[in-house]
Order: sequence, then structure tokens, then C-alpha cells
Amino acid sequence: MSMNRIIKSSEKVTAYYETDNTILIKGNCFDILEKLEPESVDMIFADPPYFLSNNGITCKGGKMVSVNKGEWDKLGVNEVTSVYDKHEFNRKWIRLCGKLLKKNGTMWISGTLHNIYSIGMALEEEGFKIINNITWQKTNPPPNLACRCFTHSTETILWAKKNDKKARHYFDYAKMKELNDGKQMKDVWTGSLTRASEKKEGKHPTQKPEYLLERIILASTKEKDVILDPFCGSGTTGVVAKRFGRFFVGIDLEEEYLDISRKRIDKTVNIREE
Ligand SMILES: C[S@@+](CC[C@H](N)C(=O)[O-])C[C@H]1O[C@@H](n2cnc3c(N)ncnc32)[C@H](O)[C@@H]1O
Repeated sequence: MSMNRIIKSSEKVTAYYETDNTILIKGNCFDILEKLEPESVDMIFADPPYFLSNNGITCKGGKMVSVNKGEWDKLGVNEVTSVYDKHEFNRKWIRLCGKLLKKNGTMWISGTLHNIYSIGMALEEEGFKIINNITWQKTNPPPNLACRCFTHSTETILWAKKNDKKARHYFDYAKMKELNDGKQMKDVWTGSLTRASEKKEGKHPTQKPEYLLERIILASTKEKDVILDPFCGSGTTGVVAKRFGRFFVGIDLEEEYLDISRKRIDKTVNIREE
């Protein structure tokens, strides 16, 4: 994809990686999103910081480990130090993304109890209407070590459109039904945590499984649509976008993660060319 199509002509942005279907950009999405062309994107998937890195412990592979995801997930890094800052953070990136979405475009946002209520509120405040509240039910969640509450085994993914009566969002109902053995697809999606086979190019602490993005991309986009992920991490959205012949723009602060994204996307083949 050409940078000209997505970057405002008045702005200068250097791609970390660019091919004819993918652009990866290193930087703070609050700066980069301002430089992108308004109404140029068909779908946005965002998996923003959860702000849960509070020095607590969790269990991974049977071992006790820190819950901390990285500096990017701590309150201070995105200048978030209170619950109000967290909400302002969510309102601001959602507002910027709203300007980039086409009229009929949609946005998916994944989160946990740490941020999803702020995100739901921010979506409505910034002119979106929530279409679905998807529950991702994990079949193999880490056990709860403190034993003082129920084991956390779900995440929420909100799907939203512009709150405009004329906005007609795309939904491939038939495809979803076909993928669900001929029955209507429900809003609870059950499956495992990300498999080791999807982490061969390096590890990201919150990498999403590809099957979730497959469902999201097939449900809400067509071939050649432009998909944006402002917090792209290890590039899961870009991998699946390329697999199904969509264009992808990914942004992340960390070069280490963009490098994983680049390697994963390079190895991905469009299903039509397989
Ligand atoms: C929850 S992770 C996304 C994981 C991704 N969905 C995947 O499958 O790998 C959030 C990502 O946002 C990035 N990030 C945090 N704050 C950012 C900001 N202000 N601008 C751009 N990226 C940011 C982090 O580096 C991290 O990789």
C-alpha cells in the first residue's frame, strides 16, 4: 500500500516497514494518528494498554511470575496517573481514531475489567454506538494464586460504529453462520490462549490469538479494505489482514514489537496465493 494513500500530504512519516499491503510505523499513536488521512480506514482493531501492571503476581506455565506487562502498561508511561487520566487517555485515542474511520467503518476494542468500562463510556462520549459486546472465554486461563476471588477467564471485545443514522456498517452474517456450523454466531467466543506456534518470531506479553482476529476481520471487512491497529504489538492484526487480502497500518511505541510484527507478516501468505 502506498503511504500517500494513508498519510496526509502535509505530513512526514517514516515507515518502519512498508510493503504493498502493510505499513508499520514506530511512534506514539497520539502523534501518528493526527498525521493520517481523515476517513481513510474501513476498520480499526485496538488492544490498548490495560494499565494493570501494578507489581502483583500471576501464574504462567505453572510458575509464579509478575503481572507486569512492560513499561508501556504502567500508568506513568502514557502520562496516566489516575482513573480520570485513564479515561481521558481512552477518550483521546478513540476520538483520533473516529476521525480516520470512513462513515460506514467500525471499530473493535479489546480490554479487561481494568479498562473496558472506561472504553465503553468513552466510545459513547466520542460519538460511537456499540453494536456488540463480545465475551472471549479462555479455555485455559492462568489459575488465581491469591484464591480471594473467582479465576479471571474472560476478556471483552466491544464492536462499535459511528452513531449516525446514515452509517451502514458491514457484517458478513452468512460467513459467520457458515463458520458456526450453520447456526447464528453468538457473542461468546470460546478458545485457548495464544498458541506457542504463533510466538515463534518472539514473545509479546499480551499477544492475541490469530483465531480472534480471523473472526473479527472476516465479519467486518471485505478484501482490499484498510485496517488500522494503533497499538499493534506483535502484529496479530497485520498477520490476519495479509492472510485475507486486506491492507494493514500498524503503530507501536516499541521497536522490539514492531520487529516481531515484521517477521510474522513477512512469513504470512495470502490464502489466495497458497
Ligand atoms: C495490549 S498490547 C497489544 C498486543 C497486540 N494486540 C498483539 O496481538 O500483539 C498494547 C501495545 O500498545 C503499545 N503502546 C502502548 N502505548 C502506546 C502508545 N501511546 N502509542 C503506540 N503504541 C503504544 C505497547 O507497546 C504494546 O505493544
